[in-house]
Amino acid sequence: MSTSRYPIAVLVSGSGSNLQAIIDAAEDPGYGARVAVVISDRPDVKALDRAATAGIPAEVVDWSDYESRDQFSLAICDVADRHKAKALILAGFMRVLAPVAIDRFPNRIINIHPALLPSFPGAHAVRESLAHGVVITGVTVHFVDERVDHGPIIYQEPVPVLADDDEGTLHARIREIEHRVYPRVVDALSRGELVVEGRRVVWEGQ
Ligand code: GRF
Repeated sequence: MSTSRYPIAVLVSGSGSNLQAIIDAAEDPGYGARVAVVISDRPDVKALDRAATAGIPAEVVDWSDYESRDQFSLAICDVADRHKAKALILAGFMRVLAPVAIDRFPNRIINIHPALLPSFPGAHAVRESLAHGVVITGVTVHFVDERVDHGPIIYQEPVPVLADDDEGTLHARIREIEHRVYPRVVDALSRGELVVEGRRVVWEGQ
């Protein structure tokens, strides 16, 4: 694997299917990013198995070991730095990073969210979208700022809600889109193609 590619840390908490999509995309020698480390906030998650299978270093920064969000966030940054990662890619990461982390990685932390922000921020976006009765939901990729699911939006794509959808079927269709979209955005970030202008993000070359 080429070491000249842009090194990223992928932060996970669970199944890691988006991590897998990035790992698979990085098989292409022309891909811009290289997963330098996978960081989980808890042990025993499938995402860690995916990292091991791919031969990628993985570390657990266990949320329960830290007394404050600041200390936890700094520990994450320290692991990323140790692996020379230049950006933090949140992929199903269920913790909110403190502003100290955003200061350490300015405009270099991104997240993927299973709804069209600013609708339905938070951890239960798919369930809440269904409960609200929306007809269109979708995927949002955004820069991370000090507020939850709030930073400048990089990309959005709609997903129709079907009459017989439940949380599982809808989230599965959303994930399909995520797996196509997130590796592309990570590639663009790696190539320096994403320029933040206030709340707007210009995707150069698009
Ligand atoms: C994705 O739907 C993502 O949008 C949300 O959490 C889910 C993570 O799924 N933030 P996975 O762990 O990548 O499979």
